[in-house]
Amino acid sequence: MLKDKIPTLILVCEELYAQEEAILEYWVHTNTVINVLTKHNIDMNVFKNDYAVKILDYYFGVVNQTKEIGDCPVMAAFLEMLKEHDISADELFDICTHARKSMISVAFDMGIASKELFRDISYVFDLNFKGVLQQYSNTIYKLEKQIEVELQENRKKDAVMFQQARLAQMGEMISNIAHQWRQPIAMISAIVQNTHMKYTLGKLESEFFNKSTDDVKKLLSQMSSTISDFQNFFQPNKEKAKFCVENSITETLDLIDFDLKKANIQLVRFPYVAGENVLGYPNEFAQTILNLFSNAKDALIENNEVQNRYIHVRSSVDNGRVTITIHDNAGGIPENILDKIFNPYFTTKEEGKGTGIGLYMSHQIIEKNMDGRLCATNETILENQVGAMFTISLKKC
Ligand SMILES: Nc1ncnc2c1ncn2[C@@H]1O[C@H](COP(=O)(O)OP(=O)(O)O)[C@@H](O)[C@H]1O
Ligand SMILES: [Mg+2]
Repeated sequence: MLKDKIPTLILVCEELYAQEEAILEYWVHTNTVINVLTKHNIDMNVFKNDYAVKILDYYFGVVNQTKEIGDCPVMAAFLEMLKEHDISADELFDICTHARKSMISVAFDMGIASKELFRDISYVFDLNFKGVLQQYSNTIYKLEKQIEVELQENRKKDAVMFQQARLAQMGEMISNIAHQWRQPIAMISAIVQNTHMKYTLGKLESEFFNKSTDDVKKLLSQMSSTISDFQNFFQPNKEKAKFCVENSITETLDLIDFDLKKANIQLVRFPYVAGENVLGYPNEFAQTILNLFSNAKDALIENNEVQNRYIHVRSSVDNGRVTITIHDNAGGIPENILDKIFNPYFTTKEEGKGTGIGLYMSHQIIEKNMDGRLCATNETILENQVGAMFTISLKKC
């Protein structure tokens, strides 16, 4: 029985309870408690009236056996509130232990303090505090679970989004593949026709035949390597790898060269420091570059006031970081949307043209997966023209 364990406290319980207000005053005005409350923006009066007083009532309820240990709804609410304010277990202990100290101080003031009374007060406190800790760790555990579930859902959403973006890019790429195939197909067709003609005329010599076969083989292997390039491009990298930023940009540009030319866009690559490596996901990085180029292209096509369409690409190395900028002269991004463009599904393009995923995905790739920075600003480019400038910065390795 609890009451057998705390005989001294039982004797003075009513007297002490009558001084509840004094205990409260000590409790809420202790420096440690004030510090924790201020640090976490908890109003002192809310703490006192909504929680502290009820917790003391509960404490005395346990002592005079009208309440069960562990059955304290206000404690649950109190813990919930602390959790919302991100209070640590240490701080929780600081707050609670001062309730006990305050009772002891009041016992002193009343002249009823004794070693036995301290022991009894602490005994009930310890019992209660164990319960509190248990509840606290349960809520933390629940919270962690909830966070874990939300994280997983976000990861799933991202995966779907990446997939959508990849499909959209693939669509764009098809025209490039078609273009890259057109020439070898035309050549193969000419070779076949020639061979056929020579054969019908009885003029097909083995030398010509062998050369034709070789040429066709070469052209076919060229076509097949185009497919491999595109396939690699769309294969997400599983592991981080060292890769050369410049090569990656060049390879990506090769894939979309045709699209840019078709849109009359002049690509200017400023002298760059070749051979700088970074650690990350080369295919994802290439997708980011592609996103930035296709946005610049869209913006340039959209703005029909621009006479000469430009995209400037620069790279530099400074302070152990590689910086790449992609800058167009399409007029820039309106200031009021500059802080929204990296949000998922944010697009200013009409339905069917924009998904709003490109920049979100690029941002995730550079900042989350590769620990770099990606930002957008509007900068003057040629002859007082303004355009969006995207800057990627990555740690050199
Ligand atoms: N180079 C640019 N110039 C002007 N606006 C841009 C540029 N790049 C991106 N934006 C703006 O950012 C928005 C989001 O881009 P993005 O995430 O790639 O989605 P989407 O291209 O599908 O619209 C675009 O709709 C556009 O308003
Ligand atoms: Mg885009």
